Amino acid sequence: MDFNKREHISKVLKKKDNSKALVAGWAQKIKLMGNLAFIDLRDRTGTLQIVAKGFSDLNRITPESVISASGVIKKGQKKSGEKELILKSYELINKAETPLPIDLVQNTTYIDKRLDNRFLDIRNPKVSAIFKIRSEIFRNIVDFFSKEGFIKINTPKITSSGVESGSELFEIKYFNKKAYLSQSPQIYKQMMVAAGFEKVYEIGPVFRAEKSHTTRHLTEFTGIDMEMGFINDENDVMDIVENLMKYIIKNVINNCKDELKLLNIKLEIPKRIPRLKIEEIKLMLGKEGKNLGKDDDLDAESEKLIYNIIKKKYNCDFVFATNYPWNKRPFYHMIPENDKSGTKSFDLIFNGVEIATGAQREHRYNILKQQAKEKGINLDDVKGYADIFRFGCPPHGGVGLGLDRIVQCMLKLENVRESILLPRDPERLTP
Ligand code: 4AD
Ligand code: MG
Repeated sequence: MDFNKREHISKVLKKKDNSKALVAGWAQKIKLMGNLAFIDLRDRTGTLQIVAKGFSDLNRITPESVISASGVIKKGQKKSGEKELILKSYELINKAETPLPIDLVQNTTYIDKRLDNRFLDIRNPKVSAIFKIRSEIFRNIVDFFSKEGFIKINTPKITSSGVESGSELFEIKYFNKKAYLSQSPQIYKQMMVAAGFEKVYEIGPVFRAEKSHTTRHLTEFTGIDMEMGFINDENDVMDIVENLMKYIIKNVINNCKDELKLLNIKLEIPKRIPRLKIEEIKLMLGKEGKNLGKDDDLDAESEKLIYNIIKKKYNCDFVFATNYPWNKRPFYHMIPENDKSGTKSFDLIFNGVEIATGAQREHRYNILKQQAKEKGINLDDVKGYADIFRFGCPPHGGVGLGLDRIVQCMLKLENVRESILLPRDPERLTP
């Protein structure tokens, strides 16, 4: 067959009765009934029913084989009146082995086995819909930041040290030295603000050697990082994050109608995302019977609970939790003048899961040095970092968001592994 003459199913479904069509894709379901046969053919744009009369050799087509088919378009018998292809000729291009390792029709296979056979799993339209939406989200992030005047940067993923306290580094052999996989572009994005770009962003891989087996942690994920100079305070950063989320949701609603319908997801653009001090949030949680200490972080349960409280009170799926305790934040966060045990920081919680962490950074060298010391870090050991504060550094702040978590929360997926093509976690290194 000539693939250049092939038409996509979404287009064929709109063709007039009696027009000719040549389609190609995967034979999803084959029903043989004596002289009559029905094949559900799927390509990346949709599914088409093929009706075949008088073909004697269709039993060689196994489920998920690749075939091409040509014939004539007719209005179907189904109530929906969806068009069918009356088969004139076909070609078995690539026969699939049987049985398939996972169940694509009923979708009853456990996630681990699905991930082991991910390329097959993705053929399920409900799974590929997740990645079509993810692609749209990605496009909108790039769009948004360029419209806002941010410069796209790419920073090294092989580094000599880390700065994110609490998250572990993957050590790698680097000739005769020790090196690490980057756990965040934190240092470099601040460096590029100081370099004079003022507003920068990066979308790239982030590595965390966290041995956590949760539904929200990966060892490699896609980080969306931005940093901006000349801010008044962390509210300027939150403004950008809030507008970014509104922009993404607006465009996903408009451009992914079919996918959202398939996944049964209704999205709403938030009007105004509430900004609440972590202390206030803890009081709200206390009233619901969840008691957290002054220096405690919000755990997964608290994030779920706070989502319910905020949804009821503000009718919003998002909340900014602000002013995290200094004890729980890395050394580079700025401490407010009027609250020496706090930081000018925030987390964004979306549908009950943290999707972003941001803050105003400490840009005054002497104070930063002291803060690093308090956290057991000698700033002079990270000389390339320390220097950016010595030769003219504007006040600045930024945020890190997890793309995989955004997709997970937007589509209400139980496990973050559903939102990434080929997840990496402490147990999984393949495929
Ligand atoms: O909260 P994190 O660790 O913050 C930073 O990396 C800071 N440098 C950000 C900043 O600019 N202050 O990571 C940022 C986001 C999290 O909110 C979460 O969405 C995601 O990255 N993330 C993970 N996603 C999947 N698996 C993991 N193990 C993740 N760890 C963080
Ligand atoms: Mg965080």
